[in-house]
Amino acid sequence: MLSHLLHMQGIDSVVIESRTREQIESTIRAGVLEQGTMDLLHEVGLGQRMAAEGALHTGFDLSFNGGRHRIDLKALTGHSITVYAQHEVIKDLVGARVSANAQLEFGVSDTSLHGLDTESPSIRYVKNGEVREIVCDFVVGCDGSQGISRSAIPESVRMDYQRLYPFGWFGILVEAPPSSDELIYARHERGFALISTRSPNVQRMYFQCDPKDSVENWSDDRIWSELHARVDQADGWKVTEGKIFQKNIVGMRSFVSSVMQHGRLYLAGDAAHIVPPTGAKGINLAINDVLILAEGFKQFYREGKNESLDRYSETALKRIWRAEHFSWWMTSMLHQFDDASPFQQQMQLSELAYVTASRAAATALAENYVGKAAVH
Ligand code: PHB
Repeated sequence: MLSHLLHMQGIDSVVIESRTREQIESTIRAGVLEQGTMDLLHEVGLGQRMAAEGALHTGFDLSFNGGRHRIDLKALTGHSITVYAQHEVIKDLVGARVSANAQLEFGVSDTSLHGLDTESPSIRYVKNGEVREIVCDFVVGCDGSQGISRSAIPESVRMDYQRLYPFGWFGILVEAPPSSDELIYARHERGFALISTRSPNVQRMYFQCDPKDSVENWSDDRIWSELHARVDQADGWKVTEGKIFQKNIVGMRSFVSSVMQHGRLYLAGDAAHIVPPTGAKGINLAINDVLILAEGFKQFYREGKNESLDRYSETALKRIWRAEHFSWWMTSMLHQFDDASPFQQQMQLSELAYVTASRAAATALAENYVGKAAVH
């Protein structure tokens, strides 16, 4: 996205990626795009497939205590979300860069960063067995939580904030029609569950599990009985079963590395921050980071000023901390914690009752979910 935004400003960039194009275009991740992300994709000319193949959702359900309650995002905030898988967004972005003849280098290895505190930093890497070097004005580390960029910011200027959760999500892809028109986030004594979608024929579902568990321990029958137990309703509504064709387990953590810049290096997305998937924020935060960076680079090249770039970390972190809090809150409200006392269980239930009964509380949840919560 950053490369595309820069291209629109006439600024050249080179993208280097350790994985292959096929790998990044098929890795299964989350699928909720906030209103701002949808609007941006449209503005930059990449919204057609999302509009055609994604599903616009104006609300979602919270399920707890044997009942289901709708959060009407549109009525509460005026905004909606689109369910469109992250790797589909990636296909659209890569497609746009390839057709603009951008320099994209896939499958590189042995990447290293040099001269970050000079005005001409460089990146060295190996491609097809050959060592290459790019000398540039700026380096943006969009290389995820396991990448090399974050550690290039000296520990003396960096603070890492982290919260690990004692559970993971078991995710499945299913060939079936949607069980529900909208997403269902369920709190149940047996643990959290989420009913999401991918298309009219493919559904995405998750349930809370032990992060050290293995997919081999879960037969299709066992998965369905667990999902039925957590989401089915007394009125006869049931999750619709189908052929499970993908199973995976993801760990959950909250993480922020602050500051997000050093010299001519800027971090964006998972390289600097991780959220648990409960708030559906990951891709939206990454997009927000690069939008701020694109403005900064525009100011630098048009007006010769560093001001926006110098404030990048400070600007981006406001939105990031809001989303960190929101994802932590959703996670805390909806999951079973092994050590939760009966009192804590009641606190969760009372909070869920409040966010679904009070318009003020529902609005607080909804404005965060659609990505329109105020920060200052
Ligand atoms: C998904 O569809 O993958 C999804 C939806 C909502 C979430 C997380 C993941 O909060």
